[in-house]
Amino acid sequence: MTSHFDAFWMPFTANQDFKQAPRLLSRAKDMHYWTPEGREVLDGTSGLWCVNAGHSRPRIAEAIARQAAEMDFAPPFQMGHPLAFELADRLQRLAPEGLNRVFFTNSGSESVDTALKIALAYHRVRGEAQRTRLIGRERGYHGVNFAGTALGGMGPNRKMFGSSLSGVDHLRHTHDLSRNAFTKGQPEHGAELADDLERLVALHDASTIAAVIVEPMAGSTGVLLPPKGYLQRLRALCDKHGILLIFDEVITGFGRLGAPFAAQAYGVTPDMITAAKGITNGAVPMGAVFVKQGIHDAFMAAAPTGIELPHGYTYSGHPLACAAALATLDTYAEEDLLTRGLRMQPTLEAAAHSLKGLPHIVDIRNTGLVAAIEFAPRPGAAPGRRAFEVFLKCFEAGVLLRAAGDNIAIAPPLIVSDAQIHQIVDTLKRVIPTIE
Ligand SMILES: Cc1ncc(COP(=O)(O)O)c(C=O)c1O
Repeated sequence: MTSHFDAFWMPFTANQDFKQAPRLLSRAKDMHYWTPEGREVLDGTSGLWCVNAGHSRPRIAEAIARQAAEMDFAPPFQMGHPLAFELADRLQRLAPEGLNRVFFTNSGSESVDTALKIALAYHRVRGEAQRTRLIGRERGYHGVNFAGTALGGMGPNRKMFGSSLSGVDHLRHTHDLSRNAFTKGQPEHGAELADDLERLVALHDASTIAAVIVEPMAGSTGVLLPPKGYLQRLRALCDKHGILLIFDEVITGFGRLGAPFAAQAYGVTPDMITAAKGITNGAVPMGAVFVKQGIHDAFMAAAPTGIELPHGYTYSGHPLACAAALATLDTYAEEDLLTRGLRMQPTLEAAAHSLKGLPHIVDIRNTGLVAAIEFAPRPGAAPGRRAFEVFLKCFEAGVLLRAAGDNIAIAPPLIVSDAQIHQIVDTLKRVIPTIE
C-alpha cells in the first residue's frame, strides 16, 4: 500500500512509526500550533528551540515578504547587499565584548563546521599549521555535518557514519546525578571535570590541538548545565595552552538563559560563538559564527589582497534571512525578550521542581526559560521510551514538548505567560503517573 506520506524521508524521526500515526502541525500563532483538524497545541519547545519570540510574528512575516519582492537574492561572493552588513553590525552589538566579526551560514551545523575550519586556518596563518586536533565533549551535540558529527558526543548519531574526522578527542561530560540531582540552576559539583583537557594535552601535546568546542549548556542531550566554575576553568586551560575555545550557542543564543548569549549569562568569553535558530526566530534558515576580532585580523594580515578565507555558502547572508533576522532583533529589543528568561526563571523553576516525587523522575534541572525532567529508563526497554511516551501523551493533551533521550525538555518561546507555564507543568502532572 502506498500513501502520500511515503516519499518524504523524515529527519531524526522514526519514519515507520510516524507514518502509521502522523502528527501534523499546519498553523501557528504566538504560543500555539494548530493541527490540520484545528486542535490547539501549546508550544512548550519553541518549535525546535528556535521560535524564541513566538510564532508567525507579523513584523517578521512582513519583512520577509517585502524583501522577497524587493530583491530575492544577491551573490555573496565578491558582491554584497546592504542588509547583510547592517545585520552583522547589529548582531555584534549583542555579542560578548570583542566577538565583533560575523560569518553567515544557513544552519547550526554549518556554523559548527565554519567555526572549526576558521580555527584550523587561524593556527595555520599564524604559522602553527600542526594544530589540527579538535576536542569535543561526551553528550555534546553539534549538528550533523561531518565535523559536528565527529565532535559531538552522542553514540547513536556517530556510529553509523564511519570514522568521519580523524584527530578528534572528547572531554568527559559533566552530568552527575549522584552528586547533583534536583539542583536548581548550576550544579555545585564537577568543575574539576574541565581538567580533562589537561589529560588530553598530556596525551596529544598542546601544540597539536586547535580548538575545544562545547555547548555552554548542552541542550539536545537533555539540558545539562555547566557545574559552577567549569567554564571558567576550561577557559583558563585553553588560554594556558593556546587552544581556541568555541561555545556552540545554537540553542543558548538569543535569550534562552536570560541573556543574549550563555557566554554573558555565565561570564565566560569564548573565542568564537556558533549560532543559528533564534537568529531569525526560526522563520528563515540562517546561522552565524561570531569571531574575536584578533582571529579575523590574523587572516587579514596574512593575505593583504585576495580571498583571505576560502569558505562560504551560496546562501551566506541570504537577503530573506537578513530581513527576517533584522525584524527578529527589533522584536526581541522592543519586547525585552533576551533578558525575559531571567525574570521568568523563578516561575519555571518552581513549577518544574513541583514535579519531584512523581513516578520514575530521577532529576529535574532548570535555568532561564529551560528545564528538563529526567526519567529512569524502563528496565528492559530501549533508552528514552518513558520520555517519548510522555511526549506523545502531552501532545495528545495539547502541549508540545521535546523528548531528548530519557529527558523531557521544556523550552517555551520567551513570550510565555505564567499561566502557560502552569498549563505545561499541570499537563505533565496528569500524564507522568499514567506512564509505566
Ligand atoms: C548546540 C547545537 N549545535 C548545532 C546544532 C545543529 O543545528 P542545525 O540543526 O540548524 O544544523 C544544534 C541543533 O539543535 C544544536 O543544538
